[in-house]
Amino acid sequence: MKLKTQVGIVGAGPAGLMLSHLLHLQGIESIIIETRSRNDIESTIRAGILEQGTVDLLRETGVGQRMEREGFRHHGIELRFDGAGHRIDFPSLTGGKSVTVYAQHEVIKDLVKARLDAGAQILFEVKGVGISGLDSAVPKIRFRKDDTDCEIACDAIAGCDGTQSICRPSIPAGVLTAYERVYPFGWFGILCEAPPSSAELVYALHDRGFALVSTRSPDIQRMYLQVDPSDRTENWSDDRIWAEFRRRLATRDGWAPKEGRIFSKVIIGMRSLVVEPMQYGRLFLVGDAAHVVPPTGAKGLNLAVADVRVLARALLEFYRSGRGDLLDRYSESVLRRIWRTQRFSWWMTSMLHRFPDSDAFQYRVQLAELVYVTSSRAASTTLAENYVGLPME
Ligand code: PHB
Repeated sequence: MKLKTQVGIVGAGPAGLMLSHLLHLQGIESIIIETRSRNDIESTIRAGILEQGTVDLLRETGVGQRMEREGFRHHGIELRFDGAGHRIDFPSLTGGKSVTVYAQHEVIKDLVKARLDAGAQILFEVKGVGISGLDSAVPKIRFRKDDTDCEIACDAIAGCDGTQSICRPSIPAGVLTAYERVYPFGWFGILCEAPPSSAELVYALHDRGFALVSTRSPDIQRMYLQVDPSDRTENWSDDRIWAEFRRRLATRDGWAPKEGRIFSKVIIGMRSLVVEPMQYGRLFLVGDAAHVVPPTGAKGLNLAVADVRVLARALLEFYRSGRGDLLDRYSESVLRRIWRTQRFSWWMTSMLHRFPDSDAFQYRVQLAELVYVTSSRAASTTLAENYVGLPME
């Protein structure tokens, strides 16, 4: 089966769906292909924090209604160390900005619905995806759908297919440079049935390692513990998990998390990765296909949306005026902000985790940094303006 569209999009994550949505609003047609099922992408639990700019974009482009009803606006976070909490207030430090807790799979549901309601083609559960002709004016995406061989001919391909991208390795050897850092720890994440333990997120540094209190809804909470990346969830009974949270999050005034039935346990690795350049011929890499951040700054989804915004504008210029200047500069334009966000995610990660090979000096320096960040207005502003999201360039 031969199909034709303007922009062929590989991957129906937040990046691919948002790109298709923005292109549609600009009168540009796209087709999305996705290896997973609709149910799968709409139910996998991932990130949960939306920057102010991401929230504004969802709202301005007509896909923010449910987020406005069901999301939770957070005006700050707490940094907890040495047995006490210290609040960073976002609006007063950033000219009124804040973040919204609204799960990634909810964003995906809203975008899938908006695209399908507008008559878009999203082909789920495709197999054997390959891309070719990147050097030509008509690149192609090949795949099988329900045992039929299919091909999409398009003007440009957006590789929005995540860390395990098939688009990235389709770029000839020698073109890309990868910059990577693997951290010597992972996060043990749980979902539990309990009321929120805290009105805002709590990021804690303890001698025994990092802990994070996050939330998903009034009844479901998300919490994380720093663990060895090779550890296994089977080693962690519910009792052991709660004992560790109580210890790492304890305050001198007796704070304890609200406990409840744990119904999900995962261990995730932590790394920073950027590949440069993020384009080759008529292929443009977007989001996790080109860069990964450790989750400490909650930036992954937001960074993908920022790439999408730039690419959508460049494609608009291309179709409107026939000029490819903005497209040619796509990688250069997005990488500036990506590296600044990489820096923030690396910094938060370094400040808030116990490094296995670090000594007591290092730990004291980390505590001193936390004292500085929570007591100096300048330092608090540094954290706040990055957390709510750097301005779009
Ligand atoms: C989450 O709720 O999954 C979450 C929140 C904040 C982070 C990372 C993950 O920094």
